[in-house]
Amino acid sequence: MINVFQPCVGQEELQLIAEVLQTNWLGHGSVVQEFEAAFASQLKTDPGQFVSTTSGTEAIFLAAELFDFKSDDEIIVPSISFIAVGSSVVAKHAKLVLCDVDPHSLNVTADYIAPYITEKTKAVIVTHYGGVPCDMDPILDLCLAHNIRVIEDSACAVKSFYKGKATGTLGDMGLWSFEAGKLITTGDGGMVYLNSEELITNAKEQLYLGLTGSEKSGIDRSATGHEQWWEIQIGRPGRRAIMNNIAGAIGLAQLNKIDTFLVRRKAIYQRYSKELAQYSWLTSPPLHGDGIEPSYYFYWIQLKRRDELAQFLREHGVYSTFRYWPLHKVPYFEQSATKLPNSEFASQQTLLLPLHQALSDDDVTRVLELMKTFGGRL
Ligand SMILES: Cc1ncc(COP(=O)(O)O)c(C=O)c1O
Repeated sequence: MINVFQPCVGQEELQLIAEVLQTNWLGHGSVVQEFEAAFASQLKTDPGQFVSTTSGTEAIFLAAELFDFKSDDEIIVPSISFIAVGSSVVAKHAKLVLCDVDPHSLNVTADYIAPYITEKTKAVIVTHYGGVPCDMDPILDLCLAHNIRVIEDSACAVKSFYKGKATGTLGDMGLWSFEAGKLITTGDGGMVYLNSEELITNAKEQLYLGLTGSEKSGIDRSATGHEQWWEIQIGRPGRRAIMNNIAGAIGLAQLNKIDTFLVRRKAIYQRYSKELAQYSWLTSPPLHGDGIEPSYYFYWIQLKRRDELAQFLREHGVYSTFRYWPLHKVPYFEQSATKLPNSEFASQQTLLLPLHQALSDDDVTRVLELMKTFGGRL
């Protein structure tokens, strides 16, 4: 089978994992810190502003805690978003305000957000769809004017740049996912960017049991007013969502290869674009504008007979998929009466073709041949 997403790991990861096992320090430690610093350096940003976690989903729920979503708050989210974004809002009893996306890029824009802003709007959570940056300047201007927090779900946009700045580092908070199918993986894992020292400190507490002063050893803590050297203090109820050294080691090996991955993904993306342009029965994604450097995470097309094509590819050994089921259609969120035509159209006609660095030229040829055969039958 040709997978739609796939991890790409090998000897480099095994070597770094072996080194961690030899140290016998498997939990959170210096390898994770090295990974955080290397990630920041790839994004050309200050390492002090990053903190790793166990998944992108943890990072999304962390956002709801850090910005203190409450029952009176409204959070604007494009309907084409990952399910955990909606869940994190309703879990805090805040109002999930779903908006539409641009029909061409499937990204949200300032124009789609603006009509939903009220005095109660606390945050906007944008998603860089398939690794292509949203047009952030107008979104940032709009949110600044209304004192609204901007959170960027950059899960699929690792090393995507918008006008020279990494996505995920443009607003108040950004997050990435390193689950097994993402551009780089740590098995499971995530990263968070926060734009203030206070938020970073809060995030570290939140991700590690809510402990305050946990960076100090027990003996040092006794000098800070504790009765007993072994006492701990919590500043909030916290989770335990810290990355471990084994995951950090895999991440470091992956980061060493990320540029090769991106070059390969771009080549496949461009080959699809060139060869599929001849077919009038499908629509390809738009060209990327000036100042946009995507991560080439999704390659998507749109066509009326989407489900038929997916079935045909599947029968011939090729997986394809669609992301993301519009949140206003998810029964749990109880917004099925809402009309968001672009999101609905996208969910009916969009198909993601296989795109990952482990695809061989022959794999891509196979996908393209199948597309030709399918088109020939229409
Ligand atoms: C856009 C987006 N956000 C968040 C996540 C959640 O990340 P994780 O799977 O690491 O929890 C994912 C995917 O898995 C995603 O695609």
